[in-house]
Amino acid sequence: MGYNKVPCIAFFLWQFISFSLPYHSFAIEVDANATALLLLDASKGSSRPIPDTLFGIFFEEINHAGAGGLWAELVSNRGFEAGGPNVPSNIDPWSIIGNETFLIVATDRSSLFDRNKIALQMEVLCDTQGSNICPSGGVGIYNPGFWGMNIEQGKSYKVVFYVRSTDAVNISVSLTSSDGLQSLASANVIASASDVSNWTKKELLLTAEGTNHTSRLQLTTAKKGVIWFDQVSAMPVDTYKRHGFRNELFQMLADIKPQFIRFPGGCFVEGEWLRNAFRWKETIGPWEERPGHFGDVWMYWTDDGLGYFEFLQLAEDLNALPIWVFNNGISHQDQVDTTSVLPFVQEALDGIEFARGNASSKWGSVRAVMGHPKPFNLKYVAVGNEDCGKKNYRGNYLKFYDAIKRTYPDIQIISNCDGSNGPLDHPADFYDFHVYTSANDLFSKAHKFDQTSRNGPKAFVSEYAVTGNDAGKGSLKAALAEAAFLVGLEKNSDVVQMASYAPLFVNTNDRRWNPDAIVFDSSQVYGTPSYWVQRFFVESSGATLLNATLKTNSSAQLIASAITWQSGDGKTYIRIKVVNFGNSSVNLSIDVAGLDPNSEQLTGPTKTELTSTNLMDENSFTEQKKVAPGNGTTLPDGEMDVVLKPYSLTSLDFLKKTVSLRMWEADASSKSSI
Ligand code: AHR
Repeated sequence: MGYNKVPCIAFFLWQFISFSLPYHSFAIEVDANATALLLLDASKGSSRPIPDTLFGIFFEEINHAGAGGLWAELVSNRGFEAGGPNVPSNIDPWSIIGNETFLIVATDRSSLFDRNKIALQMEVLCDTQGSNICPSGGVGIYNPGFWGMNIEQGKSYKVVFYVRSTDAVNISVSLTSSDGLQSLASANVIASASDVSNWTKKELLLTAEGTNHTSRLQLTTAKKGVIWFDQVSAMPVDTYKRHGFRNELFQMLADIKPQFIRFPGGCFVEGEWLRNAFRWKETIGPWEERPGHFGDVWMYWTDDGLGYFEFLQLAEDLNALPIWVFNNGISHQDQVDTTSVLPFVQEALDGIEFARGNASSKWGSVRAVMGHPKPFNLKYVAVGNEDCGKKNYRGNYLKFYDAIKRTYPDIQIISNCDGSNGPLDHPADFYDFHVYTSANDLFSKAHKFDQTSRNGPKAFVSEYAVTGNDAGKGSLKAALAEAAFLVGLEKNSDVVQMASYAPLFVNTNDRRWNPDAIVFDSSQVYGTPSYWVQRFFVESSGATLLNATLKTNSSAQLIASAITWQSGDGKTYIRIKVVNFGNSSVNLSIDVAGLDPNSEQLTGPTKTELTSTNLMDENSFTEQKKVAPGNGTTLPDGEMDVVLKPYSLTSLDFLKKTVSLRMWEADASSKSSI
């Protein structure tokens, strides 16, 4: 085994393949033992830099990705606002402890906060003495969070709420099991009538004495009187950098080293109706003052704890460039005429100033008050989502484009119109490209951008995934087709500059879209095979693309790419990625040309595979890594013949060493003929 044999094998194999290629019947005969040759040119002259931004993530508030997901707030509908500004409002999922003999619960518009006027009024009819004695444990309200709160022994939770009453209060604040029977942590808020005669903020730190993944927060009392509650929050103290992001979900994102994060949608940005679209100004400032809104495309309420500021913070924490998608006056059902779109344009300009204006600017100062005087690194914005075909899009788009370029000439603007088949009829720096399709189709779309013009705006493939029967809830089959597509994007990264899978997250209790990259509930998380595919591309952004040509017999469904990349400790690697989308194994030989035989040497490779027993295999909470790459196997140095398993993604990492001539002469055994 060694480098010496490689060119010989490569040569014979190449002759064999060249000879057999024109004869399909012959190719079919060798199916059982398919062969392929990968010709790699590692010389500098034939390589090309891959954009630093190539692979990132798209975070949409869908499937409770944020509210009840990455955003660690445990209380759902913390201001009782889910019904909008109406009375009675929708207090779901709050429920009542006790019955009408003991208490009456209503909502009114007496809140301290102007933008969310609803508060909850609780009239307690029972007492510790007299004819109507309260049940033991008291009466009150509870919030189960998002299908149960994950409370863990030894961890602390900050509970904050606003309270008002006509009398002195004695309120028990507790974290309990879902039936209320097991108390995990509890404390009492005791206050005189004068203390709570006006709205008062109460804060407690509860430390859990037990673990329960489906807990609830209770506010109870056994004292007669009328109490108003508003803006009730329970946050784990332990969040990423205390920025409010659920640690293990954040880590899943950090592990794919996203170079950018597109947010907050998707259709979420558009709304089914404009009145329900995400409007950034309603999502900033103190959390208590945010009105929240009903996302009418994915049909759930969000308190907007994860607002515009937090998205920018998330990007910064991930070391990813923020890509802000804003509403351009168009929803699914209604749209603003171009002559009336200026308020939306101003809103976008203000949003850019909020992100990157200095701390003394109007909106930059609001950001500074929120704790981030330094501007965020906002360089990309997208004008709407999937709105290209709509009547007012071009007109509206141009208003945004002109105004933004006038004020912020360096901002890169992304159009919703597809420019992959021909030039756009309007100026843009990028065009958005979305693809959801079957596995075979996505596999073939690896070549989608081969013929695209290299002039004009670049492509941003901001949403791609295999969907439908091939995908299930995230299958190996879907993931392999996506891997092939990404290999194609890597090869076309002179025109495709950014790409992200969609959707990113799903809370398994509210699956609005299938499949997704990361699945979680209150306490567990796993990556689907599509997530693991993205881990193979972590080193690609900012790497160097090598010229790689695959020669194969006609029946093999293979696609491959090769890059060189530098690790943090300064080492240089060549990574080859090959997708075998066929049902036979393939004997692959690799021929690397373009290395200096006197000074450059390859060691390894380390082989890492993503495959499984069945093509439709999926991961689950019980088998989280059924379809996931292992740690990688180190093959004998210089091994250039590898077997590609049927239906697999294989990566081969070679360490590229520069050796001095003296060493070279002294150690003949390590001689390489590459
Ligand atoms: O990713 C899910 C949805 O698909 C997005 O909200 C939308 O942009 C697309 O139609």
